[in-house]
Amino acid sequence: MKLLSVLGSIIAAASLASATIWQNDQIRITDYPNTTIDPSGYKFSSYPPNATEFSYKGRWDSQFTSWYSVPGLKFGFTGNQVAITFGPNTIDTTLIAYRVDGQDWQLTNVSTGATHLLVSSNTVGVNLMYPINPSAFEMRVTNWAYGVQIASVHVGQGEKLVKVPDFPRTLEVIGDSLTAGQYGTLEGLSSYGYGLGAGLGNTEYSVTAYPGICLFDKLCWGNPHGMLYQWFRTSDTSSRAEKLYGNNPEWWDFSKRPAADIVVINLGTNDNNSANNVTADGFVAQYKMLVEGVHKVYPRAQIILMSLWEGFSSIGNTYVQSTVTSDVGFVPQIYSVYEYFNTEEYLENPILYDPVHNTTYHSNQKSAPFVHYFNTTGLLQHNDIGPLYHPTDVGHTKIASHLIQYIKLKFDWVLHATGPEVFHDTLYWNDESGY
Ligand SMILES: *[C@@H]1O[C@H](CO)[C@@H](O)[C@H](O)[C@H]1NC(C)=O
Ligand SMILES: *[C@@H]1O[C@H](CO)[C@@H](O)[C@H](O)[C@H]1NC(C)=O
Ligand SMILES: *[C@@H]1O[C@H](CO)[C@@H](O)[C@H](O)[C@H]1NC(C)=O
Ligand SMILES: *[C@@H]1O[C@H](CO)[C@@H](O)[C@H](O)[C@H]1NC(C)=O
Ligand SMILES: *[C@@H]1O[C@H](CO)[C@@H](O)[C@H](O)[C@H]1NC(C)=O
Ligand SMILES: *[C@@H]1O[C@H](CO)[C@@H](O)[C@H](O)[C@H]1NC(C)=O
Ligand SMILES: *[C@@H]1O[C@H](CO)[C@@H](O)[C@H](O)[C@H]1NC(C)=O
Repeated sequence: MKLLSVLGSIIAAASLASATIWQNDQIRITDYPNTTIDPSGYKFSSYPPNATEFSYKGRWDSQFTSWYSVPGLKFGFTGNQVAITFGPNTIDTTLIAYRVDGQDWQLTNVSTGATHLLVSSNTVGVNLMYPINPSAFEMRVTNWAYGVQIASVHVGQGEKLVKVPDFPRTLEVIGDSLTAGQYGTLEGLSSYGYGLGAGLGNTEYSVTAYPGICLFDKLCWGNPHGMLYQWFRTSDTSSRAEKLYGNNPEWWDFSKRPAADIVVINLGTNDNNSANNVTADGFVAQYKMLVEGVHKVYPRAQIILMSLWEGFSSIGNTYVQSTVTSDVGFVPQIYSVYEYFNTEEYLENPILYDPVHNTTYHSNQKSAPFVHYFNTTGLLQHNDIGPLYHPTDVGHTKIASHLIQYIKLKFDWVLHATGPEVFHDTLYWNDESGY
């Protein structure tokens, strides 16, 4: 059975507002607390969305509207209240995750134009000033196609916001539905893209991934552009982006965030699908341009090209992964891109990609090798891929874990003994000792 032909359901599925979440054969309870308040009943000190104390994570546009997978907002605050008013570009009922300090994620659906009280004196941990002081608030949007707009942020009257310094290292993952977390139980918050960034600890991360998107710049599964075009723009390829920006999205200003130290790219699954008409040569040509563009905006980044995995089939009396039978997807093409960037010819006289003019040019400055290949073969088994052809939560956890170890060994990134949860709602265990 072929994984690829089914990745197409993506865009349609993203518009379903509610669905059942299955967890160990049981329905997960998703009646999250309603945090809507009438702000006139509260005394707040309020801040506009451009307050300098805010650290936006991932992609947000000039109107403070979020894009792509797990975009976030973080800030410190005094007192024990945080409320957020969500602007008109917020998609109604979007599920957000939020937390104070190292406490577990909490979830709530937010409403367009409403004010939500996310932290109050009842919030676990908010009155504990050790070891994090003042408290830090963090929010992440869980769904890639939905998004929120920050209109204003409120803290208790007379209390104030505090800037939280960025972590010293930065990672970005560029991908499609496999990275965005489609069909993960908490979507972006269950994805390996998020799990890699958050799981490394002490790392800022951005998951620039959108379901159905090709690398090659063309219409794929309803996405009007491929990543070669879209990654340099602020917004993604969703219909809400099209409504706001038509075919003139804002350029992304890469200087708004610290430059990535490591960029992981997982693209090509949608390109390698007969529905999308991308040729192998076209894919290789534009993959090189994308890497040359990443190298231009993040000259010091190490870039990891991930190979692709496909589904498993039940063959005879066992399961076999498609990659070891006939259909290997664009894996040889990705490997050839990796090889190209490690040739003496390239490194002696590197080529960069200028997205504004959509052209490449020689930088005339030698480069050290910066492109790496991460072989995914053997990471997953058949039951790590769900019935909708995407990794299960456990599959995502495995991919994230392997990447974390790869990055540690390859780039000497120290892993810290942090404690706060990464993957929410994964505390399944056996409380029966005697059966
Ligand atoms: C909250 O969001 C989840 C995830 O998108 C969705 O399944 C659920 O229906 C939403 N709840 C409400 C009340 O809108
Ligand atoms: C939450 O409660 C408010 C009224 O306080 C209501 O207008 C809104 O529809 C509710 N939201 C959800 C998702 O149930
Ligand atoms: C925030 O935006 C307002 C209104 O556009 C502007 O007057 C103010 O200078 C901005 N503040 C900062 C810190 O950029
Ligand atoms: C997918 O990639 C493989 C390996 O290069 C190639 O043989 C096959 O024709 C490709 N299929 C499509 C639809 O791109
Ligand atoms: C792919 O090519 C076929 C034949 O030229 C065409 O009918 C179809 O619309 C194309 N699909 C896309 C997504 O470009
Ligand atoms: C950029 O150039 C490539 C070919 O090199 C082309 O496929 C793509 O459509 C161009 N993008 C734009 C926005 O013109
Ligand atoms: C990836 O790993 C598989 C399994 O170990 C191996 O067969 C394959 O040759 C590797 N690919 C590359 C390009 O090294």
